[in-house]
Amino acid sequence: MKILILGSGGREYSIARAMKNEKEEHEIFFQPGNGATNNLGKNLNIKDYNELATFAKQEKIELTIVGPEAPLVDGIVDIFKAQGLTIFGPSKEAAQLEGSKVYMKNFLAKYNIPTAAYIETASIDAAFKFTDSLSVPIVVKADGLCGGKGVIIAQTHDEAKVAISEMLSGKSFGDAGLKVIVEEFLDGYELSMFAVCDGDDYILLPAAQDHKKLLNGDGGPNTGGMGAYAPTPLVDDALYRKVKDRVIRPTLDGMKKEGAPFEGVLFIGIMVVNGEPITLEFNVRFGDPECEILMPLMTSSVSDMFLKASTKRLSEIKVEFSKQFAVGVVMASGNYPYGSSIPAEIVVDESHHEEIDKFTHIAYAGVSMDNDTLYADGGRVLVCVGLGDSIKQARDRAYLRCGQVHFVGKKIRTDIAYQAL
Ligand code: AMP
Ligand code: GLY
Repeated sequence: MKILILGSGGREYSIARAMKNEKEEHEIFFQPGNGATNNLGKNLNIKDYNELATFAKQEKIELTIVGPEAPLVDGIVDIFKAQGLTIFGPSKEAAQLEGSKVYMKNFLAKYNIPTAAYIETASIDAAFKFTDSLSVPIVVKADGLCGGKGVIIAQTHDEAKVAISEMLSGKSFGDAGLKVIVEEFLDGYELSMFAVCDGDDYILLPAAQDHKKLLNGDGGPNTGGMGAYAPTPLVDDALYRKVKDRVIRPTLDGMKKEGAPFEGVLFIGIMVVNGEPITLEFNVRFGDPECEILMPLMTSSVSDMFLKASTKRLSEIKVEFSKQFAVGVVMASGNYPYGSSIPAEIVVDESHHEEIDKFTHIAYAGVSMDNDTLYADGGRVLVCVGLGDSIKQARDRAYLRCGQVHFVGKKIRTDIAYQAL
C-alpha cells in the first residue's frame, strides 16, 4: 500500500516499522517525520492540510494515519474525507473528546460513564466554591489543548485557587484556559487502554502502563511519558470486561447519538480505584511511548487493521497479539522536560549480541540527520524496546539496548515496569 503517516515521534516511527515488517510491501511517506524515518520511507514538508490532501490524491495514497492530536482537533480528517481519501482518525467534532476537557467531561456525565466528580465553569466564584467543597489534593484542568501541561494537582486549596485564577485570566494557557475543570483527586493506579474504532466496532489492545513522571519512583515533574510496558498484569479479564461495558461501548454508542461517530484510536486514561475503572480522560490518538510497545506485540497486519478501521470494516478481521511482553524505556535529552538541548551526536554500538539483535529495537523520536550522522535534538529522543516471555525479561532486554546508545546528556528512568515486578 501507499501510506502517509502524520507526525514526527517514536509513535509514528513504530507504526511505520511494524508495517515494514509485514509481508506486503508498503511505500510510506511521513509529514514531517524525523531524522530516522527516512530509513523507513520518505519525509515530506507540506504543512498545509489542503495541500497535503492534494498531494495524497496525486500520489494515490491509499491510507493516511494521523499520529498526534493537533491535526485531528484541527479537522484534518474532514479535509481528507471531503477529497474522497481514506484516513484513520476521528472527525473534528469527535476529536473534541480530547480537544475540549469540558466536552469530554460533559459527555461522560451524559452517558453515565464513571469519572471524577467535577465542575466545569468559566466563573471564578463557582470554581472557588467547588474547590472549597473538596479535600486536597485538588485537580485543576484547563479546557483546551496545552501540550500535556494543562493539569495541575494542587496540594492546598490556595494553590488550586491560584491555578484557577491564572487559567481563567488567560495568563497560564491563553484561550485554552478560559474554561476550567475542577475535580476530585482519584487515588489508585493508572492505566492506558487503547481501542481502535471504526464508528461501530472496536478492537481493544492489551492494557499498558505509562510512567509519566521524570524520575525513578514517580518523582519530579510530569512528562509525555518516560517508559511503558504491556500487557500489564494489573488488568484481569473482569477489569477488561468493565472497561468494555462501562466505557468503550457507551462511548461509541453515545458518539453516534451525538452525530459524531468515533473512528480512530480511543485512548482511555483510566484510574483503577478499588477495582473500578474510572475514566480520567480520553485522547483521540495513540499514546507515546505506549504505541512503541503495542505495535511490536501485534502479530496480525497493522496496516490492515488501520485500513479496515478507516473503512468501517473492523468486524471483518481478527487482530492477533503475541503472547510476549514489551517494555519501552525512553531516552530523553538533558534538559527534558524543562527546555531544549543542544543537538548531540548519537552513537549506537554495533550489536553482535544475539539476544539484543533478536529481541530489542529502537524507535526513534526527537532525532535529526545531518551528513549521515544522527543527532539527539532534544525532548524525548528515542525509545529502547525489549520483548520477552516475561515482563522482567523484556525489561532486562530493553535496558541492555539502552546500554548501547550514547549521546551527551542522555537521561532515562531505570525503574520502568516496577509496578508489575
Ligand atoms: P490528563 O491530561 O487529564 O490525563 O491528566 C494528566 C495526569 O494527571 C493524569 O495522567 C493523571 O496522572 C493525573 N490526573 C488527572 N486527573 C486526575 C484525578 N482526577 N485524580 C488523580 N490524578 C489525576
Ligand atoms: N504517554 C501518554 C500520552 O501519550 O499522552
